[in-house]
Amino acid sequence: MIAITANNFYDLTKFKHTIHRDSVFRNIEVLDFSYVPDKLYMRNDIINSLIYSFRRILTDNNSSTNCLITGLPGSGKTTIARYFAKHFRQSALESIPDFHIEFFNCLRFRRNDTIVAHLSKKYCHSSGKGYASEEFWIILLKKLIYSKKYLFIILDNIDYLPRKDLLQLLCLSESFGHQNVRISFLFISRSKQWDYYKNQDINQRIYDLIKIKPYSFKEAYTILKDKCELAFKENVISEDLIAQLAQIVSERKNMRYGIKYLRKLGIYVDKHEIEKISFEMLNEIPKEFYFEYSEALENLKEHELLTFYSIITILSNPKITTTEPIYIEYQNVCKKFKKKPHVIMVLRRHIRSLAKFNLVKTEVIGSPRKGRYNEISLSYDPSGIKKEVEMFLNQKLG
Ligand SMILES: Nc1ncnc2c1ncn2[C@@H]1O[C@H](COP(=O)(O)OP(=O)(O)OP(=O)(O)O)[C@@H](O)[C@H]1O
Ligand SMILES: [Mg+2]
Repeated sequence: MIAITANNFYDLTKFKHTIHRDSVFRNIEVLDFSYVPDKLYMRNDIINSLIYSFRRILTDNNSSTNCLITGLPGSGKTTIARYFAKHFRQSALESIPDFHIEFFNCLRFRRNDTIVAHLSKKYCHSSGKGYASEEFWIILLKKLIYSKKYLFIILDNIDYLPRKDLLQLLCLSESFGHQNVRISFLFISRSKQWDYYKNQDINQRIYDLIKIKPYSFKEAYTILKDKCELAFKENVISEDLIAQLAQIVSERKNMRYGIKYLRKLGIYVDKHEIEKISFEMLNEIPKEFYFEYSEALENLKEHELLTFYSIITILSNPKITTTEPIYIEYQNVCKKFKKKPHVIMVLRRHIRSLAKFNLVKTEVIGSPRKGRYNEISLSYDPSGIKKEVEMFLNQKLG
């Protein structure tokens, strides 16, 4: 029988005390992914390019233009776009007092209709229902001219929008004339997704394409140091530790890892009622958040991806496997995707790469004398991701 004692209940005095306990954070908001920094470091050239792309809105009779930013995950695309739009608006207000920024993440707004419904409500005071999307744009464009409003629309993760919907947006100024379209678009897409998504019709209608490089160690260090100064109280984190995080960011080519680590470390010391973050804590905080497999997938080479696909195919049934069955499945998969399989020695290397990305777990079983073999397993259900991996394979090899 389980004994129920007073200790099984959360002490509500402690509850209150914990909420109000001192924190190492000065401003945790700085570590939110949606945070737009006051100072944007290391992206002067990109901001300059954006100014040159869009300044014609102000100098050329409020005409319409567009630009696309591409780059790897966590290279700062969304942050740069939001930062630019905010400051561009401040300059624009001098000549266009009714200058509006609209931000749509196409992960959520997956069709033009949903974008139209939002704009319709806000700018045409109607639900947009009953209009064909083309009709709506005509009404909106007339409204914007009549009320001297201007819309600067950011469409993030544009590759989630059907191609025909993006084409409709891109054709607005062709259809109605540049001077009649008081809307400009800043599109954002991850580079690999864009390469798969783009077609000739779309490409021809994008005026400027800005490619963002991932942050180097030095750049990552400067950004993380600034974040720490804003986010934490004094002396909470050492410069060496910031350098270590900058190293992780530059190796993984993704700023998110640095930011996530800072957040997790801050919460970890708060939870343990410690006042400083130490080096050892890097190993203490849970590693599972490394596992962002769609980011990892993007970094895999062709045969690593084929190997991964083989492993998740096999592990739909048994939970653990070894190199030999994987090799048999890998040869089948290579045949299916018309690729020449590598030899088993090289396959072992691919499995090691997958383990480095935390996509699979490997464990050496046995002793040197009796013989060793590798056990390969997954820490998640492969059925949920098989389709996505297949899509990645088609993108990469198609
Ligand atoms: N130059 C910068 N200065 C300050 N913070 C930055 C900078 N670049 C990126 N960050 C921070 O890094 C994180 C990731 O940036 P962001 O979300 O803009 O990347 P992204 O390229 O849009 O990634 P994804 O493709 O995953 O959407 C955010 O928390 C952001 O605040
Ligand atoms: Mg983004």
